[in-house]
Amino acid sequence: MKVLVVGSGGREHALAWKLSQGGKVKKIFIAPGNAGTAMCGENVNIAPDDIEALKGFALEEKIDLTVVGPEIPLTLGIVDTFKEAGLRIFGPTKAAALIEGSKAFCKDLMARHGIPSAAYKKFDDANEALSYIKDAEVPVVIKADGLAAGKGVIICETRAAAAEAISLMMEENAFGEAGNSIVIEEFLTGEEVSILAITDGKTVIALPPAQDHKAIFDGGKGPNTGGMGAYSPTPVITGELEKEVLDTVIIPVIKAMEAEGRRYTGVLYAGLMVSGGSPRVLEFNCRFGDPETQPILMRLNDGDGLFDILWAAAEGSLKGIEPRWSEKASVCVVMSAGGYPGGYEKGKIITGLEEAGAMEDVMVFHAGTERKNGNVVTSGGRVLGVTALGDTIGEAVDRAYGAVKLISWDGAYYRKDIGLKAIKR
Ligand code: AMP
Ligand code: GLY
Repeated sequence: MKVLVVGSGGREHALAWKLSQGGKVKKIFIAPGNAGTAMCGENVNIAPDDIEALKGFALEEKIDLTVVGPEIPLTLGIVDTFKEAGLRIFGPTKAAALIEGSKAFCKDLMARHGIPSAAYKKFDDANEALSYIKDAEVPVVIKADGLAAGKGVIICETRAAAAEAISLMMEENAFGEAGNSIVIEEFLTGEEVSILAITDGKTVIALPPAQDHKAIFDGGKGPNTGGMGAYSPTPVITGELEKEVLDTVIIPVIKAMEAEGRRYTGVLYAGLMVSGGSPRVLEFNCRFGDPETQPILMRLNDGDGLFDILWAAAEGSLKGIEPRWSEKASVCVVMSAGGYPGGYEKGKIITGLEEAGAMEDVMVFHAGTERKNGNVVTSGGRVLGVTALGDTIGEAVDRAYGAVKLISWDGAYYRKDIGLKAIKR
């Protein structure tokens, strides 16, 4: 089989790496990929949002299955375009990807179908939003309706900060059209977890739960990032709670999408806040999480396990597929460029990759890297996802940090507390 993976982050390296482990996939292309994906397949210089060029490539190369990493091509309708061209592709259609593409749509959907989430109001007029906030309870969460590269959610401790966030989105258009309408949401407390499930629209297979670390600094301080580390499993999600999430969140939302004429296929990512043992939805994503995918896929035992599940989801034949997961724990520590999530420099030479990658039960997933003049250099904010297995979370943490210490470049940064919460429990 020939597979095309669309994207260039750590998630896409993990997908391409796992797809290359079994016997069924003979050739993998990654568009555009990074220095890591080039080690398990062939990088193709096409941008993830250039859907026509991707379609042309897939037709010419007779790609058997395309797997889409990032949300943008999905919300632009890559799945619809590929299917019309007779190409097999894993992911939701444009109509279904709206669950991530519009926070207002997502909140209304949950309200219509009784799926637990924070109370909210939506606005498309700045004055109305500003007047509402005058006597709203704080903290309060202000969310741009559309996609804003992970920056469209602002948690405001005061009403003044909330008014500023509203102006930023609706008057200064800081996120472009994404901020034309906003959602103002009740602030939830508790522990955040991510549950990803794969579906063909009928059958649902939950992947092992994972926990992300969104803030840039230790202890969850500082601005939010795309994710600075993740581990799986997470002690927050017991077997019982996982079943509750499936029964009260994942399955109802997939049924709701079907009922509203937006059949959902692909992977559905539920970002949840668990408080007092009950889950509430913070957001849905229409794609795999990054970095959650890295530790989750490290725990998938079968070489062809990922290919089989993605293929079956794309074919509508997921029933009966049972991926085998390792009992081991897995931890991913993200190494980022100094300054991220603000401004940062690129082009720094990375050393120690081979030594770290040679450690047993360690995979160094590349994100913002490229090869230049024989060196692997930095080319993005999140640069690497150093991922390790262990008999316990503690062992996996030690192993991952052991590998991180072998790697360096000028300005490298990482959190020192990935997985600590799980160990403390
Ligand atoms: P989202 O993109 O909606 O997941 O928001 C990004 C992050 O903002 C989440 O991972 C949470 O850490 C935080 N967040 C979003 N909504 C809320 C909420 N209602 N209460 C507390 N934190 C939230
Ligand atoms: N790690 C958060 C996300 O993928 O959205």
